[in-house]
Amino acid sequence: MNENRDRLRIAVQKSGRLSDQSLDLLRRAGLVFRSSRDRLFLYGENMPVDVLLVRDDDIPGLLVEGSCELGIVGRNVLDEQRLAGADAPAPAELQALGFGSCRLAIAVPDNGLIKNVTDLAGLRIATSYPALLAEWLRKQSIDAEVVLLNGSVEIAPRLGKAHAICDLVSSGATLAANQLHELVTVMRSEAVLASSPRAQNAATAAQIERLCARIGGAQSGDGMRLLMLQAPRNALPAITRLLPSRETPSVLSLDGRPDDIAVQALCSELDWQHLEELKRLGASSLMVLNVERMLA
Ligand code: PRP
Ligand code: ZN
Repeated sequence: MNENRDRLRIAVQKSGRLSDQSLDLLRRAGLVFRSSRDRLFLYGENMPVDVLLVRDDDIPGLLVEGSCELGIVGRNVLDEQRLAGADAPAPAELQALGFGSCRLAIAVPDNGLIKNVTDLAGLRIATSYPALLAEWLRKQSIDAEVVLLNGSVEIAPRLGKAHAICDLVSSGATLAANQLHELVTVMRSEAVLASSPRAQNAATAAQIERLCARIGGAQSGDGMRLLMLQAPRNALPAITRLLPSRETPSVLSLDGRPDDIAVQALCSELDWQHLEELKRLGASSLMVLNVERMLA
């Protein structure tokens, strides 16, 4: 920890997709806060842990410089900073938090001119995640131009600034409102707990570990669903990739149906879109059950 401080600091998005659930998780982990007048700082009353409310994009930087020991941030923001920072020390992802799931996706105008990923060659793609997009393009061997925009990326095609965009998609409402649709997923993301790459002394490390254990306890069982389905055996790899599951799914064979399997998976967040995609992969007899209690 910073030499001048004996309290942990955890950075949380001030207002946005992750704000409410981040604070809610910390409260369920047992932290009680008092808010400062400017509402940018929450003082921990029952533990030496304070919360800083900041822009999500600033969280990796705060961790790198050591102004905060911990942060709750989207994996996409963390990975973008790691890629952009090349060999500089980067914050580590301590644990996935099971909320705020979304995907970084390339989206194109509904006019239908861009149909396949290969059509992107030679075109301009606007994004706030230039490093993640550039890396994906490199891996796909697609030669497209990355245009950096820090906000309102979805209007870039209409303004003629780019042919396509690469942005976060959660419900898909923003894309639909801008006559865009997804072409391909670049990465899946969710809220994660991240830690500073600065060396910690033993006392700080112990404090972080205690807090992580409390957060883990607050998480387990919470919002967990048991997904059950039947599917063609050869669809298993695609199904496993799609599931936001915490552990390897159980796979059972079906009597008299050698080409089919039954799958059971514990999933943190399942929305209708997952179920639609599973059906498209050939899943049937889909069932989602609430998990009452869980001992991981
Ligand atoms: C993302 C993204 C879109 C929106 C998509 O922004 O930039 O604007 O969410 O969500 P939807 O599919 O449910 O419509 P985010 O909330 O991360 O805000 P930020 O980029 O300003 O940090
Ligand atoms: Zn942001």
